[in-house]
Amino acid sequence: MAPDFDSLPEAITAPRTDAIYNCHAYLTKVPVAAIRPFIETFSAPGETVVDFFAGSGMTGLAALTAGRKAVLSDISVLGQHIATGYLAKVSPAALRATADSVMKTARGALGELYNTKRASDGAVDELTRTVWSFTYKCPACAAQIVYYEHISPSGAPPKACPSCGGPFARRNWPRGEDVPVEVVVAGESGRLAPQDVSDFDRRMIAAAASDPRRKDVPSLAIEDHREMYSRSGLGKAGLTDTAQFFSPRNGIALLELWRAINAVDHEDIRRKLRFAFTAILPRASRRYQWSAKRPLNAQNQTYYIAPVYYEWNVFELFNRKVEAALRADQDLFGGGDAPLFRPAAARDVSYELASADALSHLKGASVDYVFTDPPFGSNIFYSDMSLFHEAWLGRTTDNEHEAVVHTTGRRKNGAAERYEELLRGAFSEAFRILKPGRYMSVVFGNSSGRIWGLVQRALRDAGFKAAPAHVAILDKGQRSVKGLNSGSEGVVTVDLILTVQKPARSESADNARPLSNGDTATLIREAVADLSSEDARNPSYVYAHILTKAIQKHLLLDDMHLGDVLVALRKAGYAIDRKTGSLRRQEASAEAA
Ligand SMILES: C[S@@+](CC[C@H](N)C(=O)[O-])C[C@H]1O[C@@H](n2cnc3c(N)ncnc32)[C@H](O)[C@@H]1O
Repeated sequence: MAPDFDSLPEAITAPRTDAIYNCHAYLTKVPVAAIRPFIETFSAPGETVVDFFAGSGMTGLAALTAGRKAVLSDISVLGQHIATGYLAKVSPAALRATADSVMKTARGALGELYNTKRASDGAVDELTRTVWSFTYKCPACAAQIVYYEHISPSGAPPKACPSCGGPFARRNWPRGEDVPVEVVVAGESGRLAPQDVSDFDRRMIAAAASDPRRKDVPSLAIEDHREMYSRSGLGKAGLTDTAQFFSPRNGIALLELWRAINAVDHEDIRRKLRFAFTAILPRASRRYQWSAKRPLNAQNQTYYIAPVYYEWNVFELFNRKVEAALRADQDLFGGGDAPLFRPAAARDVSYELASADALSHLKGASVDYVFTDPPFGSNIFYSDMSLFHEAWLGRTTDNEHEAVVHTTGRRKNGAAERYEELLRGAFSEAFRILKPGRYMSVVFGNSSGRIWGLVQRALRDAGFKAAPAHVAILDKGQRSVKGLNSGSEGVVTVDLILTVQKPARSESADNARPLSNGDTATLIREAVADLSSEDARNPSYVYAHILTKAIQKHLLLDDMHLGDVLVALRKAGYAIDRKTGSLRRQEASAEAA
């Protein structure tokens, strides 16, 4: 099969807004719409696609919708749970009815803990959410302040102690107990109405706090050797167990909902409901950040709790998530209220728990195409963040071979070497399992040339042809780009998708030609002087284009640092718009430079 390269775009913009993408969060997902053109170009219907860093399984879903088989693997228990949840095909009507029934059971078991008294007419009703605030103690005068009561209308922190005028600093002010500051309930007209916290509410909160079921809420310790323990300051905050992230009331509501879901007989419906349940966990926790304008999501890469946060009614979140799952199913399987069945296609996607450098479940030369998205190094600690969900799943990820670069704790020593070894092992396995002449696409984004050099050499040493068959830019629509104006280290917001080929039996890889050191400064200068309007969108595009050119010229990328590109752009008279992350030409400074 000769791939039709012309049908593959050079830049793929895949906004993260579709129903499938948004249904269940996972760290750094690649949208299905971005993967499908690759699967369609490099494999034929009915063929087998593999992803061995599969995460939430987007490659499997893309393969399914394109009529291919997929063999997914990852070390992540949470990833496997999410992917198999997406793949559970159920009757929409049966799912809806079962969801209503489990919520009824759980509400009954929870009792009156979510009740509030509506201020306007005194009616007792279930609340929608409670807003909670940190409290702080002024180190100078010992005055206790409720943070929420002293923020500006836009949510900015107080500047000074309201009592003695001493400077307010969250870092240095000791914390007190968190307190409820607002309750939101459906008003008489049905519209949401915020109201003050009453004695009735305080009684419910106290009842939940002393409820014996709290000890049954599943929990895992986030131990001090975990990278995210130090990165999220969990020791100082006293947050060392996952259950502590839930208010007592939400912990118990989740427990009752989980029990009801697990009692569902039908396997696929139970699976889909468990999937919807884990999808709500961040928002059902104290990680759901309040904001003056509209709720901010939970930060899924850290265990951060904002000083004002929500305690959101678990049943409301779950109800909405079931609807979101139905919308995702519609995109994945098509509409219709078919009787309960499991299509052959869904069975054609499997998900193993395996390290990418040991794919013993796959025979040599058996796979038609690999699409994979490896971890980027020291940015995201998947298995640490997954504990939050895995506490409910009863099984945790074995992270002995996790491909991340630890920067703290006992795994810091030799971390970069282990990461490189793992990536090399994974690419060797990819080479082994692929049929001769077939392709692997690797998604990779990093602002460090050293990591790019490592990927480049590892691919070549595994036996792939050194010159890539195709290089594409993947723009996932992220925005934040730091540092152009300061000229300091930046954050890449676009990734590259590098496609390499395993030589056909009759071919050699032609890898004798050594990779040479490019003149980085010249490459960067030339690229910046010759920016097309397309490239000039944002600094990451410029960086990605320079990388692409260097890769195609067979140059080593070790010195290709985003920071240098940012400095060159600044010298050429570009500034970055802090809000949009896009580049702006500044004529005056261009002349000066
Ligand atoms: C960038 S994410 C992939 C996300 C995926 N593209 C998705 O759509 O959800 C990288 C994945 O690599 C996994 N991983 C880390 N070390 C691994 C290893 N040794 N073997 C297999 N998977 C590993 C992580 O668990 C994580 O799910």
